[in-house]
Amino acid sequence: MAKTKIEPVIVLKELKKSFGLGDAEHYAIDGITLTVRKGEFIAIMGPSGCGKTTLLNILGLLDSKIEGEYELEQRSVASLSARRQARIRSQQIGLIFQNFNLVTRLNVIENVALPLVYKGTTQTNRLKQASAILHTFHLGEREYYMPYQLSGGQTQRVAIARALVNNPSIILADEPTGNLDSAASHIIMEELSDLHKRGNTIIMVTHNPRLTTYASRVITMLDGKINTDTGSAIRAKTSSTKRPLGRLRKKSKRKKAVIL
Ligand SMILES: Nc1ncnc2c1ncn2[C@@H]1O[C@H](COP(=O)(O)OP(=O)(O)O)[C@@H](O)[C@H]1O
Ligand SMILES: [Mg+2]
Repeated sequence: MAKTKIEPVIVLKELKKSFGLGDAEHYAIDGITLTVRKGEFIAIMGPSGCGKTTLLNILGLLDSKIEGEYELEQRSVASLSARRQARIRSQQIGLIFQNFNLVTRLNVIENVALPLVYKGTTQTNRLKQASAILHTFHLGEREYYMPYQLSGGQTQRVAIARALVNNPSIILADEPTGNLDSAASHIIMEELSDLHKRGNTIIMVTHNPRLTTYASRVITMLDGKINTDTGSAIRAKTSSTKRPLGRLRKKSKRKKAVIL
Protein backbone atom coordinates (compact mmCIF):
# COMPACT_ATOMS: atom_id res chain seq x y z
CA MET A 1 0.00 0.00 0.00
CA ALA A 2 1.55 3.28 -1.06
CA LYS A 3 1.05 5.59 1.89
CA THR A 4 1.57 8.71 -0.19
CA LYS A 5 -1.53 7.85 -2.23
CA ILE A 6 -3.87 7.87 0.77
CA GLU A 7 -6.12 10.85 0.37
CA PRO A 8 -6.06 13.70 2.86
CA VAL A 9 -9.22 14.04 4.92
CA ILE A 10 -8.19 17.19 6.71
CA VAL A 11 -5.79 19.85 5.51
CA LEU A 12 -4.98 22.86 7.68
CA LYS A 13 -2.88 25.72 6.37
CA GLU A 14 -1.64 28.34 8.84
CA LEU A 15 -4.78 27.88 10.91
CA LYS A 16 -5.31 30.55 13.58
CA LYS A 17 -8.01 31.22 16.08
CA SER A 18 -8.10 34.14 18.45
CA PHE A 19 -10.24 34.97 21.43
CA GLY A 20 -10.77 38.40 22.95
CA LEU A 21 -10.44 41.82 21.41
CA GLY A 22 -7.85 44.57 21.37
CA ASP A 23 -5.26 44.21 24.11
CA ALA A 24 -6.98 41.07 25.34
CA GLU A 25 -6.70 39.31 21.96
CA HIS A 26 -5.02 35.97 22.35
CA TYR A 27 -4.29 33.30 19.77
CA ALA A 28 -5.48 29.94 21.09
CA ILE A 29 -4.40 28.42 17.75
CA ASP A 30 -1.38 30.18 16.37
CA GLY A 31 -0.50 28.87 12.92
CA ILE A 32 -1.12 25.16 12.51
CA THR A 33 -0.33 23.48 9.22
CA LEU A 34 -1.32 19.84 9.17
CA THR A 35 -2.45 17.09 6.81
CA VAL A 36 -4.46 14.20 8.20
CA ARG A 37 -4.88 11.22 5.91
CA LYS A 38 -7.75 8.78 5.81
CA GLY A 39 -7.36 6.02 8.37
CA GLU A 40 -4.90 7.79 10.65
CA PHE A 41 -5.33 7.51 14.41
CA ILE A 42 -3.79 10.66 15.84
CA ALA A 43 -3.22 11.26 19.53
CA ILE A 44 -2.81 14.90 20.51
CA MET A 45 -1.09 15.76 23.75
CA GLY A 46 0.03 18.98 25.37
CA PRO A 47 -0.34 21.06 28.52
CA SER A 48 -3.64 22.51 29.62
CA GLY A 49 -4.51 25.66 27.68
CA CYS A 50 -2.34 24.88 24.63
CA GLY A 51 -5.36 24.83 22.30
CA LYS A 52 -6.32 21.14 21.98
CA THR A 53 -10.04 21.59 22.58
CA THR A 54 -10.15 24.72 20.42
CA LEU A 55 -8.55 22.72 17.60
CA LEU A 56 -11.05 19.86 17.92
CA ASN A 57 -13.95 22.33 17.95
CA ILE A 58 -12.70 23.78 14.68
CA LEU A 59 -12.13 20.36 13.12
CA GLY A 60 -15.64 19.32 14.24
CA LEU A 61 -17.16 22.38 12.51
CA LEU A 62 -18.36 23.79 15.81
CA ASP A 63 -16.33 26.95 15.34
CA SER A 64 -15.92 28.50 11.92
CA LYS A 65 -14.52 31.91 12.90
CA ILE A 66 -10.97 31.10 11.91
CA GLU A 67 -8.05 32.51 9.98
CA GLY A 68 -6.12 30.39 7.52
CA GLU A 69 -7.45 27.40 5.61
CA TYR A 70 -9.39 24.34 6.69
CA GLU A 71 -10.14 21.84 3.93
CA LEU A 72 -12.31 18.91 4.82
CA GLU A 73 -12.28 16.20 2.17
CA GLN A 74 -10.85 18.64 -0.35
CA ARG A 75 -13.51 21.30 0.21
CA SER A 76 -12.73 24.57 1.88
CA VAL A 77 -14.90 24.74 4.98
CA ALA A 78 -15.23 28.51 4.53
CA SER A 79 -17.14 27.89 1.30
CA LEU A 80 -19.73 25.62 2.93
CA SER A 81 -23.02 27.07 4.16
CA ALA A 82 -23.91 26.69 7.84
CA ARG A 83 -26.57 24.19 6.81
CA ARG A 84 -24.13 22.08 4.81
CA GLN A 85 -21.67 22.17 7.72
CA ALA A 86 -24.39 21.00 10.09
CA ARG A 87 -25.22 18.11 7.77
CA ILE A 88 -21.58 17.05 7.49
CA ARG A 89 -21.26 17.27 11.25
CA SER A 90 -24.26 15.06 11.89
CA GLN A 91 -23.50 12.49 9.20
CA GLN A 92 -19.74 12.21 8.94
CA ILE A 93 -18.25 13.42 12.19
CA GLY A 94 -18.52 11.71 15.55
CA LEU A 95 -17.82 14.12 18.38
CA ILE A 96 -16.87 12.68 21.72
CA PHE A 97 -16.52 15.61 24.06
CA GLN A 98 -16.15 15.97 27.77
CA ASN A 99 -19.51 17.46 28.55
CA PHE A 100 -21.62 14.50 27.65
CA ASN A 101 -25.16 15.79 27.68
CA LEU A 102 -27.83 13.19 27.30
CA VAL A 103 -31.41 14.28 26.72
CA THR A 104 -32.88 13.83 30.19
CA ARG A 105 -36.42 13.09 29.00
CA LEU A 106 -35.33 10.23 26.74
CA ASN A 107 -34.18 6.81 27.87
CA VAL A 108 -30.79 5.36 26.97
CA ILE A 109 -31.74 3.64 23.71
CA GLU A 110 -33.70 6.69 22.50
CA ASN A 111 -30.74 8.93 23.27
CA VAL A 112 -28.39 6.72 21.28
CA ALA A 113 -30.85 6.44 18.37
CA LEU A 114 -31.27 10.22 18.15
CA PRO A 115 -28.56 11.03 15.56
CA LEU A 116 -30.17 8.54 13.17
CA VAL A 117 -33.35 10.66 13.01
CA TYR A 118 -31.44 13.22 10.94
CA LYS A 119 -30.36 10.47 8.59
CA GLY A 120 -33.95 9.40 7.91
CA THR A 121 -33.50 5.86 9.24
CA THR A 122 -36.81 4.14 10.12
CA GLN A 123 -37.65 3.89 13.81
CA THR A 124 -37.25 0.11 13.92
CA ASN A 125 -33.81 0.33 12.35
CA ARG A 126 -32.84 3.21 14.59
CA LEU A 127 -33.58 1.18 17.69
CA LYS A 128 -31.85 -1.90 16.24
CA GLN A 129 -28.66 0.04 15.50
CA ALA A 130 -28.76 1.77 18.87
CA SER A 131 -29.23 -1.55 20.63
CA ALA A 132 -26.32 -3.11 18.72
CA ILE A 133 -23.87 -0.39 19.69
CA LEU A 134 -25.07 -0.37 23.31
CA HIS A 135 -24.26 -4.08 23.44
CA THR A 136 -20.70 -3.48 22.22
CA PHE A 137 -20.34 -0.98 25.05
CA HIS A 138 -21.67 -3.53 27.56
CA LEU A 139 -24.73 -1.40 28.19
CA GLY A 140 -27.29 -3.86 26.85
CA GLU A 141 -29.19 -4.10 30.13
CA ARG A 142 -29.34 -0.33 30.50
CA GLU A 143 -31.31 0.31 27.29
CA TYR A 144 -34.49 1.36 29.07
CA TYR A 145 -32.87 3.24 31.95
CA MET A 146 -33.31 6.99 32.20
CA PRO A 147 -30.12 9.10 32.23
CA TYR A 148 -30.50 9.94 35.94
CA GLN A 149 -30.34 6.23 36.76
CA LEU A 150 -26.82 5.85 35.30
CA SER A 151 -23.45 6.25 36.95
CA GLY A 152 -21.04 8.86 35.57
CA GLY A 153 -19.06 6.26 33.66
CA GLN A 154 -22.18 4.73 32.16
CA THR A 155 -23.44 8.17 31.09
CA GLN A 156 -20.16 8.79 29.34
CA ARG A 157 -20.28 5.43 27.56
CA VAL A 158 -23.88 6.07 26.42
CA ALA A 159 -22.84 9.46 25.04
CA ILE A 160 -19.93 7.85 23.20
CA ALA A 161 -22.26 5.19 21.78
CA ARG A 162 -24.52 8.02 20.59
CA ALA A 163 -21.57 9.77 18.90
CA LEU A 164 -20.64 6.58 17.07
CA VAL A 165 -24.07 5.14 16.17
CA ASN A 166 -24.24 6.54 12.68
CA ASN A 167 -20.83 5.21 11.84
CA PRO A 168 -19.03 8.52 11.30
CA SER A 169 -15.91 8.36 9.15
CA ILE A 170 -14.10 10.96 11.27
CA ILE A 171 -14.09 10.65 15.03
CA LEU A 172 -12.94 13.54 17.21
CA ALA A 173 -12.49 12.69 20.85
CA ASP A 174 -11.49 15.09 23.63
CA GLU A 175 -10.06 13.03 26.49
CA PRO A 176 -12.69 10.34 25.95
CA THR A 177 -11.54 8.31 28.93
CA GLY A 178 -10.76 11.31 31.14
CA ASN A 179 -13.08 10.49 34.00
CA LEU A 180 -13.34 6.73 33.57
CA ASP A 181 -11.86 3.86 35.56
CA SER A 182 -9.49 1.56 33.72
CA ALA A 183 -12.13 -1.08 32.85
CA ALA A 184 -14.45 1.49 31.27
CA SER A 185 -11.48 3.17 29.53
CA HIS A 186 -10.46 -0.17 28.08
CA ILE A 187 -13.90 -0.73 26.53
CA ILE A 188 -13.78 2.68 24.89
CA MET A 189 -10.19 2.39 23.66
CA GLU A 190 -10.93 -1.05 22.19
CA GLU A 191 -13.94 0.38 20.37
CA LEU A 192 -11.88 3.29 18.99
CA SER A 193 -9.16 0.86 17.99
CA ASP A 194 -11.70 -1.28 16.19
CA LEU A 195 -13.07 1.76 14.34
CA HIS A 196 -9.52 2.62 13.34
CA LYS A 197 -8.95 -0.89 11.98
CA ARG A 198 -12.11 -0.50 9.90
CA GLY A 199 -10.54 2.50 8.17
CA ASN A 200 -12.01 5.42 10.10
CA THR A 201 -9.96 8.49 10.89
CA ILE A 202 -9.57 9.26 14.58
CA ILE A 203 -8.17 12.32 16.31
CA MET A 204 -8.04 11.93 20.06
CA VAL A 205 -6.82 14.36 22.70
CA THR A 206 -5.39 12.61 25.72
CA HIS A 207 -3.23 13.41 28.70
CA ASN A 208 -2.45 9.75 29.24
CA PRO A 209 0.80 8.79 27.44
CA ARG A 210 -0.13 5.12 27.66
CA LEU A 211 -3.10 5.66 25.36
CA THR A 212 -0.82 6.88 22.59
CA THR A 213 0.09 3.23 21.92
CA TYR A 214 -3.30 2.93 20.21
CA ALA A 215 -2.40 5.76 17.84
CA SER A 216 -0.54 5.66 14.53
CA ARG A 217 0.75 9.21 15.00
CA VAL A 218 1.38 11.38 18.03
CA ILE A 219 1.29 15.17 17.91
CA THR A 220 2.18 17.41 20.83
CA MET A 221 1.01 21.00 21.00
CA LEU A 222 2.43 24.00 22.81
CA ASP A 223 1.07 27.55 22.88
CA GLY A 224 -1.33 27.02 20.00
CA LYS A 225 1.28 25.43 17.74
CA ILE A 226 2.40 21.95 16.85
CA ASN A 227 5.48 21.21 18.91
CA THR A 228 6.31 17.66 17.81
CA ASP A 229 4.76 15.31 15.26
CA THR A 230 5.78 11.71 14.68
CA GLY A 231 4.45 12.06 11.13
CA SER A 232 1.90 10.12 9.19
CA ALA A 233 4.02 7.01 8.59
CA ILE A 234 2.30 4.23 10.50
CA ARG A 235 4.88 3.68 13.15
CA ALA A 236 3.21 2.61 16.37
CA LYS A 237 2.30 -0.96 17.19
CA THR A 238 5.39 -2.45 15.61
CA SER A 239 6.27 -5.67 17.36
CA SER A 240 9.45 -4.18 18.80
CA THR A 241 7.56 -1.62 20.89
CA LYS A 242 5.54 -4.37 22.52
CA ARG A 243 8.19 -7.09 22.79
CA PRO A 244 8.71 -8.25 26.36
CA LEU A 245 12.10 -7.48 27.86
CA GLY A 246 13.10 -11.14 28.09
CA ARG A 247 12.94 -11.61 24.37
CA LEU A 248 14.81 -8.40 23.70
CA ARG A 249 17.70 -9.64 25.83
CA LYS A 250 17.84 -12.96 24.08
CA LYS A 251 17.98 -11.19 20.75
CA SER A 252 20.82 -8.90 21.83
CA LYS A 253 22.75 -11.92 23.10
CA ARG A 254 22.30 -13.57 19.74
CA LYS A 255 23.53 -10.40 18.07
CA LYS A 256 26.61 -10.40 20.24
CA ALA A 257 27.29 -13.99 19.36
CA VAL A 258 27.21 -13.10 15.68
CA ILE A 259 29.57 -10.17 16.22
CA LEU A 260 31.97 -12.31 18.19
N1 LIG B 1 -14.53 30.45 24.43
C1 LIG B 1 -13.35 30.95 24.79
N2 LIG B 1 -13.22 32.27 25.07
C2 LIG B 1 -12.03 32.81 25.42
N3 LIG B 1 -10.89 32.11 25.52
C3 LIG B 1 -10.95 30.79 25.24
C4 LIG B 1 -12.18 30.14 24.86
N4 LIG B 1 -11.92 28.83 24.65
C5 LIG B 1 -10.61 28.65 24.87
N5 LIG B 1 -10.03 29.83 25.24
C6 LIG B 1 -8.60 30.02 25.52
O1 LIG B 1 -7.86 29.43 24.52
C7 LIG B 1 -6.72 28.75 25.02
C8 LIG B 1 -6.75 27.30 24.64
O2 LIG B 1 -7.82 26.66 25.33
P1 LIG B 1 -8.20 25.14 25.09
O3 LIG B 1 -8.33 24.90 23.63
O4 LIG B 1 -9.40 24.84 25.92
O5 LIG B 1 -6.92 24.38 25.64
P2 LIG B 1 -6.71 22.84 26.03
O6 LIG B 1 -7.88 22.07 25.53
O7 LIG B 1 -5.42 22.47 25.38
O8 LIG B 1 -6.59 22.82 27.52
C9 LIG B 1 -6.74 29.02 26.51
O9 LIG B 1 -5.91 30.12 26.77
C10 LIG B 1 -8.17 29.33 26.80
O10 LIG B 1 -8.29 30.16 27.91
MG1 LIG C 1 -9.25 20.83 26.58
